[in-house]
This record gives sequence, structure tokens and C-alpha cells, in this order.
Amino acid sequence: MSSGGVVEQQQSSWLVQRLEAKAGPQSFVEVMDWLLNDPQHGYYGSGQVRFGAQGDFVTAPTQGPVFAELLRRQLWPCLEALAAESGPLTLIEWGPGDGQLMCDLIAGISAEAPAWWDRLELVLVESSPALQLRQQQTLAGAPVQVHWCDPQQLGAEPRRGLILAHELIDALPVQRFGLHNGRWHEWLVGLDGQQQPCWQLGGALAPDVLGQLEQLGLPAGGGGRPEGWSSEWCPVMGPWLEQARACLSQGWLLAIDYAMPAARYYAPSRDGGTLLACREQRTSTDLLCDPGRMDLTAHVCTTLVEQLAASAGWRWQGAALQGEVLLQLGLAQEITALSEPGPLPLADRLSRREQLLRLVDPHLLGGFWWMLLESDALPLPPRPPCPPAWWPS
Ligand SMILES: C[S@@+](CC[C@H](N)C(=O)[O-])C[C@H]1O[C@@H](n2cnc3c(N)ncnc32)[C@H](O)[C@@H]1O
Repeated sequence: MSSGGVVEQQQSSWLVQRLEAKAGPQSFVEVMDWLLNDPQHGYYGSGQVRFGAQGDFVTAPTQGPVFAELLRRQLWPCLEALAAESGPLTLIEWGPGDGQLMCDLIAGISAEAPAWWDRLELVLVESSPALQLRQQQTLAGAPVQVHWCDPQQLGAEPRRGLILAHELIDALPVQRFGLHNGRWHEWLVGLDGQQQPCWQLGGALAPDVLGQLEQLGLPAGGGGRPEGWSSEWCPVMGPWLEQARACLSQGWLLAIDYAMPAARYYAPSRDGGTLLACREQRTSTDLLCDPGRMDLTAHVCTTLVEQLAASAGWRWQGAALQGEVLLQLGLAQEITALSEPGPLPLADRLSRREQLLRLVDPHLLGGFWWMLLESDALPLPPRPPCPPAWWPS
């Protein structure tokens, strides 16, 4: 066996040992959490994640600073509106990856130096200690201080401000389920005869889960979907929305992610759901084959977020495709300006144009959705001119 094979066997054995220790199949909610967040073996938890074109997957911040430049046009007016009252303001980025997005946002703030600049606190919420270290390295030379807090610390002292979650909630663990003899059952992860991880059919879903699925358009009997039809949903979305809400006394949550509404998510034609593993820019539906060495992602159901918002203390403001939002935020004008002769060398203009186009290409990052929620407890200042007209009312 090659040394690569030994490494792979060692890597997969931790999941086998974990499952053996549990003495029975486990919900994928738990297994996905191990695979991503286990501090020793998990893809994020242990810091094995590799962002960018040379890594496992690209995200908008890895495409260059243009994403942060456009995003700033959405964030600043919200902070500006809150700044009308005295006191500190906070921008919280939850799930900051390698810290590049915050780094690019800081470059923009310090260049614009808004009047509320010295009242702005910058906070990162990151569950992986290994990634916290990476973020500290990325932000080491930043002209302003950023600090790291956990949600409990923020909950003890809620802030006025804005939470940004870019490609975070597609990494929240999901529960897999499928139709068996006309009833919804859970798909679990167990061990096969060769002691290898495998999928096993579990018991029927609990009544509260069935109720939630029904609201998403999945009736108890399957609604005409064929035997074996399967998908997933995110049971930790509600608790996460509550936790995020507890971090703010007043403000907004902007979540940007792979997403779609329930009607598309659970369309009978989408058998198998949206869960994917990703490594070296290639995706696979074999989620268990290389535990802890692949990213795992499931699209976010925008309808679920909308349905859970009110009970978590948020007012749902709407969701829209990234392509549409960025056009509203001036992307087309940016592209036009790059066609005119200007101070930038041609190669830089072409590279910037390429970055901008990738953000709206429906086959690349244009298929992302922006979801906006506002805190419900205290009256917020009047809706700022941005978010612009694209938020459905
Ligand atoms: C797909 S990466 C996205 C990184 C970055 N936002 C970007 O777009 O490039 C997900 C990030 O969220 C972090 N994360 C996942 N679950 C988390 C949680 N419950 N709390 C805080 N951070 C979490 C991961 O460690 C990682 O930094």
C-alpha cells in the first residue's frame, strides 16, 4: 500500500472508531457535525479546509476584493442608520473562513473613513480554533483591531449592529430523510459488514419534524413522490437564528449562501436533495468516503429561514439572487467603467472584469441568495436607502 493509502486509512478510521464507540447508527446531523467541526479530525475544526482556486472550492471573497467593495454598499447604509443614535456599533462576521472578506471590508472602511468609524467594533465568530489562527494571520497587518467572541459572550452583552454570515449556514448540519413504505424515515450513518461507514434506514420521523416538513410542502404521505425519494432539512437552523438574534439588541442579519425556496428545494424532480462533498474543485455525492478531508454543503432553504424567523425574534425582510442584488448595487456600472480608458493597466481591468462577471454568473456565484432579517424587539431607524428596492416587501 502506498503511503497515501496509509494516510487515507488512518483518516477514515477515526469515523469508524467514532461510530463503533456509539454502538449504533447515528443521525447525519451528528455525523455532519463531526465531519466538519470535530477539532481533531473535522474539515473546518482541524483546519484542513483549503479555500480558493488552488484549494478545494472558491467562495466570493477568494475571487478578489470586488465582492467586498460591492457588499460594502449594502452594509454601510445599515451601519449609517444605526449610527444616527450615539453609542458603539458592531459588525459581526460569523464563519469568516480565512478572514479574507473581513480584511477586504476593513480596507474599504479605512479608505472611506465614515464619521462613525471610531465607534465601530469588528467581531469575528469562528467555531474552529485552527481557523481562528488563520484569521489572525490574515488580519495581522489590518489598520484596525478585530476581536473574536463566541456567541455566549455576545449574548451576554448584545450589540447594536449587523451580523454577516457568508457561506456559513450551508455548513450547518442537516438531517437526511427518505420515503419508505409511504412514510418519511430518517437516513442514519452506521457500519456495514466490513466495518465501513454506510447509510442505514432509521425510524419514522418525529411528529414535530413531520409538521415542519409539511409546512415546506412535504406532506406526511410523500405528496406523490416515489418510494425512496430523499432530501434533507436543517434542524439546527431555528436554534442558530435564535442564537444570532441573542447577539444583537438591535440590527440586521445578512446571510449569503447557496440557497433556494422550498418549492424548488423539495420539487419532486430533485430526488436526493442538495448535499454535496467538495474537494479539489470537484463535487461528489459520496459524503462518507474521505471523512474530514472534504467540505460538505447543503443548500439553504430560504422558505425555512423565512418560516423560522419570527419565532427566533427576527422580521424577515426578503431574499434575492446575488446576481440581481449586485446589479442593484452597481455592478453593471463597474463593468462599463472598466471598458473606458482609465488609470488601471489593461491586464488589471480585464482581471477585475472577470472577478465581477464570476459574481453574477448563474453557473458560478450568481446562483447565491442574499437573505435579510431585522431584529424585532426595538424600533429600528428608518430603512436606509440601501438595502435598495430589490428586497421584496
Ligand atoms: C464555507 S466556510 C466560509 C468561509 C467564508 N465566510 C467565505 O465565504 O470564504 C464556513 C466557515 O464557517 C465556520 N463555521 C461553521 N460552523 C460554524 C458555527 N456554528 N459557528 C461559527 N463558525 C462556524 C467554519 O469554520 C468556516 O470558517
